[in-house]
Amino acid sequence: MKIAAWIAGALIALCVAILLIDYALATRSAPKDDHLIKALQEQVKSDAALAPKLAGEQKRVTAARRARKSRDNALAWLLILASVVFLTAAKRVVSPRWGRLQPGVPSGDGRLPAASLPVAQVALAGGTACPTNTIDLAFVDQIVAREGRGKESAIILLQAIQSHYRYLPDEALHRLCELTEITPAEVAGTSSFYGQFRRSPVGKHVVRVCHGTACHVAGARQITEELRRYLAIPEGADTDAQRLFTVDEVACLGCCSLAPVLTVDGHTSGRLTPTTACDALGQAT
Ligand code: FES
Repeated sequence: MKIAAWIAGALIALCVAILLIDYALATRSAPKDDHLIKALQEQVKSDAALAPKLAGEQKRVTAARRARKSRDNALAWLLILASVVFLTAAKRVVSPRWGRLQPGVPSGDGRLPAASLPVAQVALAGGTACPTNTIDLAFVDQIVAREGRGKESAIILLQAIQSHYRYLPDEALHRLCELTEITPAEVAGTSSFYGQFRRSPVGKHVVRVCHGTACHVAGARQITEELRRYLAIPEGADTDAQRLFTVDEVACLGCCSLAPVLTVDGHTSGRLTPTTACDALGQAT
């Protein structure tokens, strides 16, 4: 794309230069030609022998003007074409391609740019996978070296990244696409298709509220709403601002006789009310 932009830019400069030179030459020669034709026309009135010379000069001037017009038309079209190519190529070069990593929005040639995104701050509230507040991408390098670069490894690699970071950080996916044959579009498609993958950081404690049939009938909705209110989880989010708790709605947890049921970091609590559900969070802290 950079080469195309350079070539188109050079063509634009060349076309503009030729057009300017042409215009300057035409501006200089036109008055001279007009003057010559006029003088010959005057002379032909007294000397008919000069008529062929007049005709020849008129022919020459007309041919030169037509040639210039044709040349300028061709240059104008070339200029338009080169401008379109230049703008398209320049847009591709400078636009942030990672922003296209959205489900259903494939990215140009499907690869991520080498330039890094700003490193996101990751505060996993004590999560063991990230000892610092930045993403350690060495894990991605290791897992790719172990599982391979092919597209067939996409799910395994994403599972490993999810398991390591507890979600799919943009930086890790970026690195994954740099190292493998997997494209951003494929990452977006796979990570949005399977419910197991998260694209946002998870809280230190994960609360899974069962919304299976038995728990739904027994009041799972009220429990979820009370937990979200208690933890002040914003609308559209599933994790509180301090990233201490993530509240997920899940299918049957397999202990329907205890409905309604939730788990906090895998520990089950049953026969809950909205109040006792909030109490159950205390066991995790
Ligand atoms: S429906 Fe909730 S545990 Fe089965």
